[in-house]
Amino acid sequence: MEPVDLGDEERPGGITRKTLLKAALIGAPMSILAGTAAHASLARDVAVTGGPLLPTPFCDDDDEPTVEQIEGPYFKPNSPQRTTLPGNGTPLTVSGYVFGLSCQPLANVLLDFWQADANGAYDNVGFNFRGHQYTNANGAYKLTTIVPGLYPGRTRHIHVKAQAPNKPILTTQLYFPGEPRNNTDTIYDARLLMNVRTNGAGLEATFDFVLNVQGAPPSSSPSASPTTGPGGTWQAGRTYAAGDTVTYGGSTYRCLQGHTAQAGWEPPNVPALWQRIG
Ligand SMILES: [Fe+2]
Repeated sequence: MEPVDLGDEERPGGITRKTLLKAALIGAPMSILAGTAAHASLARDVAVTGGPLLPTPFCDDDDEPTVEQIEGPYFKPNSPQRTTLPGNGTPLTVSGYVFGLSCQPLANVLLDFWQADANGAYDNVGFNFRGHQYTNANGAYKLTTIVPGLYPGRTRHIHVKAQAPNKPILTTQLYFPGEPRNNTDTIYDARLLMNVRTNGAGLEATFDFVLNVQGAPPSSSPSASPTTGPGGTWQAGRTYAAGDTVTYGGSTYRCLQGHTAQAGWEPPNVPALWQRIG
């Protein structure tokens, strides 16, 4: 495998690169060997102690747009819906849960991932290493991909936009423990460290998102009843494909990503799914 570059410096707790590489060879979890300092706590663990969860921090490195400016050089809307991003590189899985502030699992959260390939390049023509998925009824997700390559100026990272139905988009990034550039990347945030362990020839990472959603999660079951209120052709329960257009509240919207509409995903509320065109 092509291991994550762990650097040559002494690790906190006296673990050397050599020790870590040896650990990788025998498949031991790096997070355990590197001590608690390198072990990012998961929201599901923190919740046991009680009290509200801290939301996952926002993180933006200017290679993706703000919410209002959806066409950025590296983020591309309309990524394919898929949980596996195929391509050559060190296999990596990222899995976990999406919670609200009260640790309630959030179903049907849109998670849109994008990352560099093994050489540190983004595909700005096609959709390599881009894909979106939705959390299941338990709030769980799983991404199968490769370890992203490094590119100038940044530490190793994976981009993601997370959006619960009818809620704002969280744009953030996930990081790898033990990366030398974590110390020099000004955008890097230790609260966004994944737990990473070796798994055969690849890496297995976990991360729990916490979205700024109060109380009980929205209903996860699609409603077949047409929406009432503002009016238009948009209907909960209908399946839309990218490119479809609907009207809602007197405006026209174009579908960016195929999905089955549900209450809470009215076009003005989900800019990741609908673009207003008139
Ligand atoms: Fe990036």
